[in-house]
Amino acid sequence: MATLQKLFSILCLITLVVSQDMPYEELLAQIQACPKECSCPPNFPRAVYCDNKGLKSFPKIPPYTWYLYLQNNLLETVPTDALQNATQLRWLNLNRNKITSDGVDKGVLGTMKHLAHLYMDDNLLSTIPSPLPVSLEHLRLSRNRISKIPAGVFVGMDKLNLLDLQGNKLMDDAVTEVSLKGLTNLVQINLAKNQLSNMPLGLPPTTTQLFLDGNNIEKIPADYFKGLPKMAFLRLNHNKLGSGGVPKDIFNISSMLDLQLSHNQLTEVPVIPSGLEHLYLDHNKIASVNGSSVCPISFDSLDDSMNESLPKLRYLRLDGNEISPPIPRDVVMCFRLLRSIVI
Ligand SMILES: *[C@@H]1O[C@H](CO)[C@@H](O)[C@H](O)[C@H]1NC(C)=O
Ligand SMILES: *[C@@H]1O[C@H](CO)[C@@H](O)[C@H](O)[C@H]1NC(C)=O
Ligand SMILES: *[C@@H]1O[C@H](CO)[C@@H](O)[C@H](O)[C@H]1NC(C)=O
Ligand SMILES: *[C@@H]1O[C@H](CO)[C@@H](O)[C@H](O)[C@H]1NC(C)=O
Repeated sequence: MATLQKLFSILCLITLVVSQDMPYEELLAQIQACPKECSCPPNFPRAVYCDNKGLKSFPKIPPYTWYLYLQNNLLETVPTDALQNATQLRWLNLNRNKITSDGVDKGVLGTMKHLAHLYMDDNLLSTIPSPLPVSLEHLRLSRNRISKIPAGVFVGMDKLNLLDLQGNKLMDDAVTEVSLKGLTNLVQINLAKNQLSNMPLGLPPTTTQLFLDGNNIEKIPADYFKGLPKMAFLRLNHNKLGSGGVPKDIFNISSMLDLQLSHNQLTEVPVIPSGLEHLYLDHNKIASVNGSSVCPISFDSLDDSMNESLPKLRYLRLDGNEISPPIPRDVVMCFRLLRSIVI
């Protein structure tokens, strides 16, 4: 019986090694090096879980770790010596600690040549840590105290596609062509809840999603989206945009899918691009909607024979304005695919 059990566990181990694509010696070294504060699931040997442990200092990280979870602790520093063997990390979660910019050892992150995801939300950083590994794909730094982006910090980071900086203290002079240089494949950037009073400069043409809710933006320059041909999800809720600062056709971008302008001071409905699917204009100061003038195509060509080119709008919010029901008939006539309209 004991022999059978032994045989069985060896078989399990073999399957494990095969399924994890990890040599037996490495697996053994990895499991033996598991810090006592952490848990290292044998069926997922490249992951080390040290989250929610009240840790004040970094544990010694086993050498073959790819995924390291340290969120929800009391760490103040990211020291080089604790991470010297963790050169294979792919994923590092340090959310909800007390890490300061001074506490991040110079060069410690740069040695992680494979790191793709770095999460440091809810810490005490005052600047972007640098140097960063050029392998990074996602960088999350929301709800810190970041007020500056050092010039050139992103140079060479052509894999980074998501940058989350919401809830920091960035002002206009922090987000510039110089500070964002190198982000040649950025797709999503979140700058919500900062202290911007202008649209950020220097975004690469790959940008598809731009989130700017909760800033103090009053106006958008007429040529702002000229260099952003892929813009599809734009959020500007809770800003100070008035129709005087927003050129009427500024959002008429063919790639645009989702446009959110709630809680501003707009008095007019901007030009609605034909491909737009979701539009949030609630809680502004719009008094009326003229269906024939906001319709992206001419009313005469709105016959059923050409449904390919029908405006794509499916969801429209207009509540919290000065418009009284009913929904203007010409709006419904223009946007025939509308499934929901809140007024
Ligand atoms: C790193 O690896 C070396 C050699 O295996 C070991 O002696 C040392 O204690 C390790 N350091 C840390 C911080 O894990
Ligand atoms: C909106 O853009 C389309 C091309 O994408 C153009 O044909 C149309 O005239 C524009 N509408 C307005 C009102 O600027
Ligand atoms: C709506 O706009 C069209 C074209 O811009 C204009 O001819 C018409 O008078 C407007 N209707 C109202 C009720 O203002
Ligand atoms: C849209 O076009 C398709 C194919 O041309 C047709 O089958 C369909 O009935 C049309 N729908 C409407 C609402 O006109």
